[in-house]
Amino acid sequence: MSDYSIDFDFSGADTTYLTHSLHPYPAKFPPQLPRVILEKYGSAGMTVLDPFCGSGTTLVEARLLGFDAVGVDVNGLSTLLSKVKATPLPASAIRDLRAFMAKVESEAETWNKHRPAIEVKQIEGLEHWFQHNVAEELTHLLNLIGTVGDEDERDFLKIALSSIIVRVSNQESDTRFAARNKNIPDNFTFRQFVGRANEYLDRVAEYSKAVSKTGSLALYNADSRNLSMLADGSIDLVITSPPYANTYDYYLYHKFRKRWLDIDVKFAQYNEIGSRREYSSLKKPATQWTADLMLCFREMYRVMKQGGLAFIVIGDSVIKKELIKIDEVICGFMPEVGLEVCNVISSDLAEHSRMFNPTFTQKNKKEHLIILKK
Ligand SMILES: C[S@@+](CC[C@H](N)C(=O)[O-])C[C@H]1O[C@@H](n2cnc3c(N)ncnc32)[C@H](O)[C@@H]1O
Repeated sequence: MSDYSIDFDFSGADTTYLTHSLHPYPAKFPPQLPRVILEKYGSAGMTVLDPFCGSGTTLVEARLLGFDAVGVDVNGLSTLLSKVKATPLPASAIRDLRAFMAKVESEAETWNKHRPAIEVKQIEGLEHWFQHNVAEELTHLLNLIGTVGDEDERDFLKIALSSIIVRVSNQESDTRFAARNKNIPDNFTFRQFVGRANEYLDRVAEYSKAVSKTGSLALYNADSRNLSMLADGSIDLVITSPPYANTYDYYLYHKFRKRWLDIDVKFAQYNEIGSRREYSSLKKPATQWTADLMLCFREMYRVMKQGGLAFIVIGDSVIKKELIKIDEVICGFMPEVGLEVCNVISSDLAEHSRMFNPTFTQKNKKEHLIILKK
């Protein structure tokens, strides 16, 4: 057991360097977590998988260190965000994007005098959640983004636009769903977009210089209970954090962003595991959670190389008032899956709430780093 002990005290560490600060995403783990694992257990030429890649934290770190990085997430915004955070842009793309922002700025200056006739994009809840002038500016920005020929540049711009959507909507904040009138003036949406896109571009430019010349990136918008796109024995290291059951509805979190960007919500809604929808609304039993996790671990086992390691960060949860000690559940079914349990490092969140995921702080529940070997 002691071979697999790792010191994970990240309190006070900067978790926002390079592209890690791009765009909000719930329940990210600190980049230092995959980094210390990759530095200790990675070696040249390895392929690293995060089957619940979220905002792409593992993938960014894997690419910085020169590994092949594979990310899977059921949420389409997650795979888009991960791609933008982990894909370096050449100097020519950075120049194109600066020119794009300058064009938006100059259009914004004359917007009130020369406003073109705009057919506002129709999204569900438009009038309740967006002022008309904001909806016009968002539509215009999307139309402009649609004219950009290069896909990586377009995706970058979509993420910059996505990041301001809650700010310019009537939604109170990322975590509060109430609608309130923010009296957003004309041009505000353009200015927010340009400011955000330039800030993100500085980050991507810095990342592009720091990223390793070796290694690759692959992303799949898919359900990790079925990793059929990955070959048997193709993965050296898994570093991931599955959902903590009954804690979030990731598919709902970026609802308006997805509507503006035409990202499908239904696929994530029906295939997200561990959601509050399943356990609080649909009242599914805790056995469903165990069964879903087991399918994911079976797939991880299949795609891992012999001797490969998996590092799983996961928290306890409460389903139908029952505390689910998830480390016991996972270690309990591992003999059936076939992975050897090398170590379980648990943190009592009341005392060490910043150890893994700083946002997960409920009493009684623990968060675990489970280390498994094939
Ligand atoms: C705790 S978050 C991961 C956060 C990530 N470690 C980061 O730093 O951004 C869990 C992720 O699992 C994803 N997820 C839930 N069900 C899934 C499934 N069946 N297949 C793949 N991903 C899933 C959610 O969309 C969410 O992005």
